[in-house]
Parts: sequence; C-alpha cells; structure tokens
Amino acid sequence: MIDPRGRVMMVSGANRGIGAALARQFHSEGWIVSLGARNIDQLELSIQEWADENVSCHMYDAFEPASGDSWVQATADLRGRIDGLTNNAGIGHMEGLSDLSEKNLDEMWAVNVKGPLRLIQKALPFLTVSGEGRIVNVVSLSGKRVKGTFAPGYAMTKHALLALHHAVRHATFDDGIRVTAICPGYVETDMTSAFGVDPSIMIQADDLAETVATIVRLPNTATVAEILMTCEPEVLG
Ligand SMILES: NC(=O)c1ccc[n+]([C@@H]2O[C@H](COP(=O)([O-])OP(=O)(O)OC[C@H]3O[C@@H](n4cnc5c(N)ncnc54)[C@H](OP(=O)(O)O)[C@@H]3O)[C@@H](O)[C@H]2O)c1
Repeated sequence: MIDPRGRVMMVSGANRGIGAALARQFHSEGWIVSLGARNIDQLELSIQEWADENVSCHMYDAFEPASGDSWVQATADLRGRIDGLTNNAGIGHMEGLSDLSEKNLDEMWAVNVKGPLRLIQKALPFLTVSGEGRIVNVVSLSGKRVKGTFAPGYAMTKHALLALHHAVRHATFDDGIRVTAICPGYVETDMTSAFGVDPSIMIQADDLAETVATIVRLPNTATVAEILMTCEPEVLG
C-alpha cells in the first residue's frame, strides 16, 4: 500500500458532509490536505478540532472557474506537489421531470460536471509528476441508474460525471494516475435531510471516507474504477 505521508490530497466541498469526512480521514492517515470551499471562515471553523500544519484552506466556488485554477496553483506553490484530487463538491436540485428548470440544470452542470473537469485539467500536470496520482470522483448511484421518477436532472449530471470519470481513467492510466468513482446511495448529510428517509438507515459519511482512503492507498497495480455503496437492498451493476 502507498504511504500517504508527505503526499498532497485536494478535497473540494470539504466544509461539511462527505467532503468534511474525507478531509478528516485523509489527514488522519497522513496526507497533507488542501481543502477547497466557498466560505473559508466556515471551512476553518469546521476543521478547527483537528487542523494542523498539514492542512491548508482555499476558496473554491465551481460557479467561479478561476477559483479552481487558483486553488490548484496555490496548492502546488505551497506544497511543491499534488498527488491526489477528490472532486466531492456537488449539488442536487431534486425536482421531477415536469418541474426541472433549465436554470437548475445549468447550476448542477456547473458544479457537478464542469467544476470537476476544470480541476482535473488543471491538476493533471502535477498528478502526472507524482507517478502515483489519485483522482476520486464523488458521483452517486444516481450516476449509475435512474431511480424511478426521482431527480432526473441530478441523475443526468451524475451520469455525465461518471462519463468524465471513465474518460479520465483511460487518458491518465499510462501516467500512473488511478481514478476511482464513489457511487453511494443515501448518505446521512444535509443533502438527504429533506428526503423523508430515516437517517439511521443511511450510509455514514465516516464509513464511506474510510473506504475511499483505503482505495487511494492501493498500489498502481490494483485499481478500483467504481465503488457502489448502498444502504438498501437494491440490485446494482
Ligand atoms: N448525501 C448523499 O446521499 C449523496 C449520495 C451520493 C452522492 N452524493 C454526492 O456527494 C457529494 C457531497 O454531498 P453531501 O451529501 O456531502 O452534500 P452537502 O452536505 O450538501 O455538501 C455539499 C458540498 O458541496 C459544496 N458546494 C455546493 N455548491 C458548490 C459550489 N458552487 N462550489 C463549490 N462547492 C460547492 C458545499 O459547499 P457549501 O457549504 O458552500 O454549500 C458542500 O461543501 C456531492 O457531490 C453529492 O452529489 C451525496
């Protein structure tokens, strides 16, 4: 397994939910973490119990593409290397088909698809130098299937993110970069709080984070392209 100590992992949307759990888990395993969020004050508040010199906080707003470029460059300037990128930031407008507005679709497209694409493009030269670069794309089971009438716009953007994921996987393999898509069902976060599903049956973000942190430590000879994780008796794959 790869030793994360001294390696640099970027995590978007690290201030709450799955991103916060991933940031804490990576850090606890020895990664130097570079955290991106829209609100730096809120981010710093959310990590104050565990942050140390191996943590840096940066502005990242997918609606402002230049902020992603600046975050990648600032990370490279500060640490001298980038070994991992976790595209976690995402939004879900959960309207049904007849209510789905173009405005909401455009927002999800910007955050869930274009944001990750731009960060990947910007980080790729650094990940290539690493020789054991890692990219994690937090997709969803909504990138694998359409769940009845539930949130078709969200599913469209997550399917697109999964397509991006596989394109990146193929394009970067020879550079030693290994790319993993995380496709969870319900995770107990703010995003699912209004779903009307009992939170106690949901995946816990910490369990997901521990799984991801293990996967990214696998050597280049053992790659996991997709992780499908669910809390329901759904047939997948
Ligand atoms: N929860 C689930 O059941 C579930 C299942 C499958 C996949 N996912 C995916 O997991 C990821 C994290 O979701 P979560 O459940 O942790 O949701 P969450 O608690 O709502 O957190 C979403 C994160 O994305 C950030 N974000 C939103 N818009 C952004 C923008 N324009 N630019 C940069 N960051 C932005 C948020 O920042 P702010 O605090 O500034 O809003 C927040 O950090 C998402 O990609 C989501 O689609 C979630």
